[in-house]
Amino acid sequence: MTKTRSIIRGVGAYLPEKILTNAELAKMVDTSDEWIQQRVGIKERHIAAEGQFTSDLAVAAAQQALDAAGMTPHDIDLIIVATTTPDYTFPAAATLVQMKLGMHHGMAFDLQAVCSGFVYAVATADSYLQNGLASRALVIGAETFSRLLDWTDRGTCVLFGDGAGAVIMERVEIADGAPDRGVLASALRSDGHHWDKLYVDGGPSSTKGVGHVRMQGPEVFRHAVGKITDVVYDTLDKAGYTVDDLDWFVPHQANRRIIDGAGAKLGLPPEKVVITVDRHANTSAASVPLALSVAVADGRIKEGDLVMLEAMGGGFTWGASLIRW
Ligand code: COA
Repeated sequence: MTKTRSIIRGVGAYLPEKILTNAELAKMVDTSDEWIQQRVGIKERHIAAEGQFTSDLAVAAAQQALDAAGMTPHDIDLIIVATTTPDYTFPAAATLVQMKLGMHHGMAFDLQAVCSGFVYAVATADSYLQNGLASRALVIGAETFSRLLDWTDRGTCVLFGDGAGAVIMERVEIADGAPDRGVLASALRSDGHHWDKLYVDGGPSSTKGVGHVRMQGPEVFRHAVGKITDVVYDTLDKAGYTVDDLDWFVPHQANRRIIDGAGAKLGLPPEKVVITVDRHANTSAASVPLALSVAVADGRIKEGDLVMLEAMGGGFTWGASLIRW
């Protein structure tokens, strides 16, 4: 008897060149470096250049992930781009990525679960691989969230940034007795009753425009820690592990206080929590794979480690995925 698992073969990331610091933001809206650092833990964020689109960021991250996996686009038969900021209303950014990678084969689609998009995409790719619909997936979280911001609203414009992260997932059969690896369990949730606590006030069917991010910050904060910890416990339960078994916690990077609150509620030692929100800000669907790429590149996450990914965002949507690296 063998067990089918989706293993992570490579990780990649891309951050646009331009860095926007809190001090620069303080010249644009009534805010301060001190306020932003104290309330959310952000120092700076990256902003995509004029003419640089989500699919461009995604392709750069994808190429790095392919290199890390020792694969070429030819090896991939599924592309999922988790994004809320596609280049166009349609086609999916994923099909543009497919084209830019020179692929004519396989399937590609976008997944829209806002900040939870990457965790949703990992679970979705895992299902496709498990069911035999695909063998090797390129799973990307990519955003040009700066394009959705109202740069006069200090309550939101200081929180977000642009970027992309990617992983390659491959279906493998693990023989009895061999060390277990790959995605062990995932849990996904949503509750649309909270839609207007964090949303964009435009869209093709409503305003026929793009719109701007609107957020009831304290309401989002109030729900975040409980929802995150619930779904982490669910995922651990499904796989038969406890918090003590975790080597690394890679949370959505929205807010340092939410991450610290969730870590404390779970009883996780702070040194097991990967933090990049200070340098990246909230890059929505890109935040988890960007954080993952940092912790893999600096050698913290190693083969055999037990890694919990987690995210929560607009919808509300939230979810977690447990991976044996
Ligand atoms: N700079 C300075 N002051 C700001 C500010 C900024 N960038 N943004 C808001 N404020 C002010 C408010 O205007 C308000 O002023 P007032 O008391 O004079 O009216 C004061 O700070 C408190 O506002 P409030 O919104 O109650 O602040 P808060 O303590 O809840 O912090 C957030 C605001 C956004 C940092 C916080 O609610 C939060 O982190 N929420 C979750 C956001 C999040 O993670 N979203 C993404 C999820 S995917």
